[in-house]
Amino acid sequence: MKIKKAVFPVAGLGTRFLPATKALPKEMLPVVDKPLIQYAVEEALNAGIEQIIFVTGRGKTALEDHFDKSFELENILLSKNKDHDFKAITSLVPETGTIIYTRQNEPLGLGHAIWCARDVVGDEPFAVLLADDLVKSDRPVLSQMIQRFCRLRASMVAVMEVAPEETDKYGIISGKDIEDHVIQLDALVEKPKPAEAPSNLAIIGRYILTPEIFSILGEKKKGAGNEIQITDAMSILLQSQPIFGYRFEGRRFDCGNKAGFQMANVAFAMDRPEIKDKLLPFLKEIIG
Ligand code: UTP
Repeated sequence: MKIKKAVFPVAGLGTRFLPATKALPKEMLPVVDKPLIQYAVEEALNAGIEQIIFVTGRGKTALEDHFDKSFELENILLSKNKDHDFKAITSLVPETGTIIYTRQNEPLGLGHAIWCARDVVGDEPFAVLLADDLVKSDRPVLSQMIQRFCRLRASMVAVMEVAPEETDKYGIISGKDIEDHVIQLDALVEKPKPAEAPSNLAIIGRYILTPEIFSILGEKKKGAGNEIQITDAMSILLQSQPIFGYRFEGRRFDCGNKAGFQMANVAFAMDRPEIKDKLLPFLKEIIG
């Protein structure tokens, strides 16, 4: 049961980033100098994923071009001896044929976006990565999860504790700890009000799913926000299969909102000595 395929739902409207996302896909917003989606694709490839499946929508062509060869730019960089830049743009392009694009023709929700990949995924377990959840860690979160999946062989979601008053922004789980970092779920709820939340353990954008999820998603039941939610489908899946929560190691940045995105930029920039030298004195100056 090797995980060979990863689905990247990138068909959302990114309304929290308007006007920046009017013509630019949210997933193309850069953290320092790399688009969010590139961090996610690199994470998947590092974890041994062999096939990248993008679920795109209208206005996402910049994303497709990003992962394609750019003959003109490559030739210019080569002729100017800009080897470093040449390497930066060529090394990010996966081998041709590794990326498959399918389309969600209406943004009906994350669950619906995942369902759009059903024929490409077929009858095997697969990963889902949401590019706007960026995690800074020694070992990429998907690698951490796949290692556990090889033994547990069931669906799995990455989870972390959030402030109890923020449960209505997340899918929330409850369950019991069965081993270090791993929780066996007994419930999943999408965006519960704090008073009704079964815990403050929130689902973060990394999933490993078994293919049985597709027939549940195919029923197209709408949930919170009138969207087809993956959390609701997993809650039904839980009636027939175990599902595990994985407390990942690393710091997560919610790049789907403006504050989280700025924090990610600062954190990742501070890892780059050439930027840190200028950024740190500036931060000290404005903090006062
Ligand atoms: P979000 O809800 O964070 O993204 O979905 P959004 O809807 O684009 O953003 P806002 O809330 O309007 O600012 C998480 C991920 O799921 C994808 C998004 O592209 C994002 O990567 N998604 C969401 C889809 O592909 N299709 C959908 O119908 C909804």
